[in-house]
Amino acid sequence: MKTFQVVPKISIMDSAEEFVQTFRLSEEDLIITSSSTWNVYFKEVKAGQVILIRKYGSGEPTDEMVEAIAADIQKPYKRVVAIGGGTVIDVAKLFCLEKVTPVTDLFDHVFPAVKKVPLVIVPTTCGTGSEVTNISILEFKKRHTKFGLADDAIYADDAVLIPQLLEGLPFAVFATSSIDALIHSVESYLSPKATAISESFSLRAARMILTAYKNIEKAGVSRRTEAMKAELKNVLTASAMAGIAFGNAGCGTVHAMSYPLGANYHVPHGEANYAMFTGVFDAYMEYEPAGKIAVLNKELADILECPVEAVYEKIEELLNGSILQKKSLSEYGLPKTELKEFAESVIHNQQRLLGNSYIPMTEEMILTIYEKLF
Ligand SMILES: [Fe+2]
Repeated sequence: MKTFQVVPKISIMDSAEEFVQTFRLSEEDLIITSSSTWNVYFKEVKAGQVILIRKYGSGEPTDEMVEAIAADIQKPYKRVVAIGGGTVIDVAKLFCLEKVTPVTDLFDHVFPAVKKVPLVIVPTTCGTGSEVTNISILEFKKRHTKFGLADDAIYADDAVLIPQLLEGLPFAVFATSSIDALIHSVESYLSPKATAISESFSLRAARMILTAYKNIEKAGVSRRTEAMKAELKNVLTASAMAGIAFGNAGCGTVHAMSYPLGANYHVPHGEANYAMFTGVFDAYMEYEPAGKIAVLNKELADILECPVEAVYEKIEELLNGSILQKKSLSEYGLPKTELKEFAESVIHNQQRLLGNSYIPMTEEMILTIYEKLF
């Protein structure tokens, strides 16, 4: 059986002010956010407890951040409102549960995830799609990798898209987050769990993101921040659509292989995915070129206006020239000898994702891809 569901109510709003009024933020809310967003757009709001994420560490979300926030929460709350990027959202999702800690036990299913209060998510980057999924990903410091908790209890009740909140986004963050969304769209399209419904979300999201990139390319590097602003509504919407697609069909090998690099070398999630993307897709083409990937490549060729054989080359050319330069794995400073540990870690820790791979992956295949990307 394959199913498809979209749980949160999705709203698109013009301004932070409209959001504050519509959702009547109050002293009964636990707000998890970043100081940059809060101070610029919400300073006047009289909220209950405001947790500023960077007090608890930099970079991507960790088990240690969740434990420290849980220890800091002073008062009971009737709703969780997450306003932020991937770190804020992945952490905030857990605080709508009855019991959050020890967070290792929550992720190991020692106790169940049971929803206690409603959750509202407002993304301030355009890539994770986390506002519409039931997944939270944390880095577990002592285990040296990331794990995901996928449970319907952590779905948002409302996802609110406000392009205004992304206007100050540094171009580099726009780049890594939107590349993540692009990869959600193509990985979910190829997943064995995809349905005709999820595929339509995947393809539309890929088209919207690649079209935005083409418009940014046309504007030229000197005007790309302005061009980015003009594309925010489209890319934010596409990111949610890609989130709906991968929330149903899953992500696959690209995500699985990116986790050891992201966790051990502190590479932003979207960038780590981009480092793996064409290596994995080239391997897919080597092993199963005539399957569904042939249909995807035709779609991509149509969007990119290039020959079907050249789609991955063209994506790299577009991204490297105007969005984000791809790096080889050696440029991240890891020794070649570590690739074997990476491959072992993927097989050991990422079976949830490998189950959605276009083709079954062995440790040897994964190691070969890493070596080619080194
Ligand atoms: Fe992702």
